[in-house]
Amino acid sequence: MKVHESPSEWRRERDAQRRAGVTLGVVPTMGALHEGHLSLVRRSRAENERSLVSIFVNPTQFDDQNDLARYPRTLEEDLRVLRHEGVDFVLLPTEAELYPDGYRYRVVETDRSRVLEGAHRPGHFEGVLTVVLKLLLLASAERAYFGEKDWQQLSLVRGMTDAFFLPTTIVGCLTVREADGLAISSRNRRLAPPDREKAPRFYAILSSASSPEAARHQLRAAGFDVDYVEDREGRRLAAVRLGGVRLIDNVPLDNR
Ligand code: PAJ
Repeated sequence: MKVHESPSEWRRERDAQRRAGVTLGVVPTMGALHEGHLSLVRRSRAENERSLVSIFVNPTQFDDQNDLARYPRTLEEDLRVLRHEGVDFVLLPTEAELYPDGYRYRVVETDRSRVLEGAHRPGHFEGVLTVVLKLLLLASAERAYFGEKDWQQLSLVRGMTDAFFLPTTIVGCLTVREADGLAISSRNRRLAPPDREKAPRFYAILSSASSPEAARHQLRAAGFDVDYVEDREGRRLAAVRLGGVRLIDNVPLDNR
């Protein structure tokens, strides 16, 4: 596994691969890797000759500076796991290298990024779309892998790819859950034990409630602070808070 800290060094490597016709899959992450991330990595490995994982805790997508400061950083362990998975390349850019412009240039989506997560986290999707555009262009991969866990992110990334005619195919991957149904997330480890026990109710209620209103009501009764529950385009999307930890999830509406 080759670790690139400099984007320009990586680009030279990728140029040589492209000349040789080598197909590449990219998995953008913020590290603190878990089984959810690894499902994307495995899919990329299965569908491409080479796979690149990027690890970059992107400051521009954090609306809350405390959240950024508390974001888990487990680089040594991440690299060990990726080596074990048989990943070919890791990109670890610094903020200065990814933002030579100091974030003066941004990707702005004016409609669907303003609802749900976007309504609760101002500027979040501007930061996400901007860094994803940079990473997709740097990676120059045939395919890029994103989780359905972050449904709104996936759909905005797809929209950006279409809007700007990006040559990379966006592949959406199913949400990986714990045995009790809780969607795997790096934030889960911040849940206090009683909250961790309660947390699987989030997915259970989302999946079974007859309407968003019913889901909101049942979630509050179960002790969750509800940011939103909304049905959109065949999907039920929700965010809740439990003891100061924010959880998001979504389920298809057809197989409830
Ligand atoms: P991060 O939260 O590290 O997630 C990286 C990728 O893993 C995302 O596509 C996310 O949807 C996927 N993922 C996380 N948990 C998952 C789960 N339980 N099942 C399936 N996929 C899961 O999302 C980001 O980073 C950032 O916003 C990023 C796209 C890297 C831009 O900074």
